[in-house]
Amino acid sequence: TTNWIDAAARDDVPEDDVMGLAVAGRDIALYGVGGEVFATDNICTHGHARLCDGFLEGHEIECPLHQGKFDVRSGQPTCAPVTEPLRSYPVKIEGGRVWLALD
Ligand code: FES
Repeated sequence: TTNWIDAAARDDVPEDDVMGLAVAGRDIALYGVGGEVFATDNICTHGHARLCDGFLEGHEIECPLHQGKFDVRSGQPTCAPVTEPLRSYPVKIEGGRVWLALD
């Protein structure tokens, strides 16, 4: 069974923007895009930068350090210098809360 963890209030996730938060001891980024919420690890796979300090355009998050990019839906890299995917996590919205499956 899926272990859903209550991460945030749905209303706290900014639309067309990214927020960073700690969930179960992990540094997680939540993205609001087109009325949906996506979740990935917050630390870039290329270096020690927090993606919540980067720039979200559509479904792409741009890292603030070297401007690598990832698709927030899949965590796949979309622009150099990043080559390693980010971990992305299943999200569900229930009871006005954002729930993540981190396992
Ligand atoms: Fe993110 Fe280099 S640390 S692109």
